[in-house]
Amino acid sequence: MGERTVDWDAAAYDRVADPQEAWGREVMGRLGLAGDETVLDAGCGSGRLTRLLAERVPRGRVIGVDASESMVEYARSNLADLGDRIELRVGDLTELELAEPVDAVFSNATFHWILDHERLFGRLFAGLRPGGRLEAQCGGEGNVAEWKRAIEAAEGDERFAPHLRGMPASYNFASVDETRRRLERSGFDVERVWLENKRYAPPDAREFVRSVGLTKHLARLPERLRDAFVDAVLGKMARPLTLEYVRLNISARKPA
Ligand SMILES: C[S@@+](CC[C@H](N)C(=O)[O-])C[C@H]1O[C@@H](n2cnc3c(N)ncnc32)[C@H](O)[C@@H]1O
Repeated sequence: MGERTVDWDAAAYDRVADPQEAWGREVMGRLGLAGDETVLDAGCGSGRLTRLLAERVPRGRVIGVDASESMVEYARSNLADLGDRIELRVGDLTELELAEPVDAVFSNATFHWILDHERLFGRLFAGLRPGGRLEAQCGGEGNVAEWKRAIEAAEGDERFAPHLRGMPASYNFASVDETRRRLERSGFDVERVWLENKRYAPPDAREFVRSVGLTKHLARLPERLRDAFVDAVLGKMARPLTLEYVRLNISARKPA
């Protein structure tokens, strides 16, 4: 069974995802693509990085998979000019089935939304050809600690608590050691797993916090409480808002 997935405000995410794009470009650079590969974009979101990936494989193809219908719909209309070099589909990565194995897997800012990493890595391994690379980045241990504390404090507020009670963990900010073990148990040869600090001060703090990090919470709250929840989280964070990210990087390969 896949985990319960939620829909995103794709247009809002696409507007604010500048840091995700910048960090994703670095990850993409590590793939060392020749230009004729088929690459999976695991958690393609609104498609900003999917387009850049397609530019790196002018004689190849990109398959974008994402659990959010609105993200895939948005990516589809944005990437229509790329024709059949792009295939986009709605799907949970923990249940991924590909008709043909891909040459490489790329993923950015997605794995920390998925609670069962072992199952995730197992499905990605199954979808890769022997010798194929996995290059990924997501939130890791210690990621956006102040933001996380502010969310936890807002969860306890009596206005929101009845709606959020029993909610599964929202994020999976995994450590280097556990990630390495999970990759190895899934069959990967692990080249490197490491944490990296990044800092970002969003120009519009409210829009950024709402569109990037609160999706699972907002999906559970009634419409009338959503703005108040965003305000409650922001109210517990220092201003001007500077987010201290800790990114978890993965470089691994399926044995040839
Ligand atoms: C922050 S966005 C990142 C999108 C894009 N990769 C980027 O860097 O801009 C996270 C994405 O992960 C997707 N996602 C979360 N859980 C997922 C799952 N189990 N399977 C597939 N996609 C998932 C969400 O729908 C969302 O589009």
